[in-house]
Amino acid sequence: MRHPTILSAWLLVALTASACITAPPRKPGLPPDPLISVDGRVIDSAAAWQDVRRPEILELFRQHMYGRAPSHMPLTIESVQEELALDGLARRKQWRIRYGKHEGAFLDVLMYLPREVTGPVPAFLGLNFFGNQTLHTDPGIRMPSSWVRNDKKIGVTDNRPLERSRGARANRWPVERILARGYALVAVYYGDIDPDFDDGFANGVHGVLDPPIEGKRAPDAWGSIAAWAWGLSRVLDSLEREPSIDATRVAVIGHSRLGKTSLWAGAQDERFAMVISNNSGCGGAAYSRRRQGETVQVINRAFPHWFSRSFRAFNDREDQLPIDQHLLIAAIAPRPAYVASAAKDSWADPEGEFLSTLGASPVYRLLGTEGLPVDKMPEVDHPVHGQLGYHVRAGKHDLTWQDWQQYLAFADRHFAKQ
Ligand code: GCU
Repeated sequence: MRHPTILSAWLLVALTASACITAPPRKPGLPPDPLISVDGRVIDSAAAWQDVRRPEILELFRQHMYGRAPSHMPLTIESVQEELALDGLARRKQWRIRYGKHEGAFLDVLMYLPREVTGPVPAFLGLNFFGNQTLHTDPGIRMPSSWVRNDKKIGVTDNRPLERSRGARANRWPVERILARGYALVAVYYGDIDPDFDDGFANGVHGVLDPPIEGKRAPDAWGSIAAWAWGLSRVLDSLEREPSIDATRVAVIGHSRLGKTSLWAGAQDERFAMVISNNSGCGGAAYSRRRQGETVQVINRAFPHWFSRSFRAFNDREDQLPIDQHLLIAAIAPRPAYVASAAKDSWADPEGEFLSTLGASPVYRLLGTEGLPVDKMPEVDHPVHGQLGYHVRAGKHDLTWQDWQQYLAFADRHFAKQ
């Protein structure tokens, strides 16, 4: 008689071989199929997506593009302040999240809540470029104490924001209109997490949690986008402790480099109930393989601190990437995700942003949702809303009220209580 363990091992191999259908190898140049695993298995069930393909995709993005963030760590909340604001229309709450003993190891959170709320409300959470005070002229908003990029128009000199920077970006954050629709708005200055310049990862959260050792870092050590995404998850940690917020209905939103960030945050952290990418382009929603507008080489050279060092291996070799950006959107499935382009934003490759959203759609459908309700790029100013949403707005690279109107409608649709 055969040895029982050899027999059962053989049986196992035979059964596994018959259970998984292997796909023919993919032609070089085509983006990877979201529904075929690295070892060639066809992903044909929600369980196979969740247990095999999604973790493998996230791992590939960590290894080759955004880098690996440290695991969760304890936070403390301090300097909590709450008062009425905006002529009594809102409650403004601010707090500080401290993630280490080091003096600069904190982020300052600003939250506006509609004044009249009974029970927890859904929220939009977004990072900003020049400080929370740029969202509104409200004099009670705390100014950042970390490094801010000089900008005459906004009102930043010697890397410190001036009083006149209050409300300088109010056009991007229609606070009153968001509140009027019953949502809270939560804001954080991205430079509190990691100042956006290449300093060898000495400052910001990298310097506190993961400083270079003798000037050296692993090829897959996290870049700034991963750090900003990490920060968004820490803000969500704090929102989970906030009784006025329904932390199961938080949409993460970001523009441009911060749209790349909201996608990476939402792809990894399943607690984000909705993800919005506004004009995120290369390294965000746009396919890298298309090489339209900004390319991998261009972005890695201009912003060497945004991605892991390992991403540079794909400079001018996009076809060799084991991932592409449709998989980043797919990793959010089945949660609602919205990708928006601007017609004049050729640097961000609007068509590439649309196509990768479409490329994520088969995963949404596998998971029982409708995905993207079109298969051709819609005309300018003709938004489409399904479980995936997309629009290309007339005009340039920006976050406008027109964009927000779609995000609010999309959130109303998906966050509505049954
Ligand atoms: C640059 C960069 C883009 C980025 C944008 C922004 O244009 O090349 O990748 O999205 O800045 O964040 O404003």
